[in-house]
Amino acid sequence: MFICVCNAIRECELRRAAQGSGADVEAVYARLGKRPQCRQCLDDAEAIVFEERALACHGQLRAA
Ligand code: FES
Repeated sequence: MFICVCNAIRECELRRAAQGSGADVEAVYARLGKRPQCRQCLDDAEAIVFEERALACHGQLRAA
């Protein structure tokens, strides 16, 4: 599923780029060599980035 139509960013690509980054959504887009255009996707993309960050944090807590 595409999260960002303008940049053809798939949800799985965004999740991979967000993992372990600690970055905000625009920085994650930059990691993919993209930048927001119409910005319609940013709320959904931000939720995914936040989710990946929370999962990483949870994993670190479980490993400790
Ligand atoms: S849908 Fe992502 S910038 Fe337009």
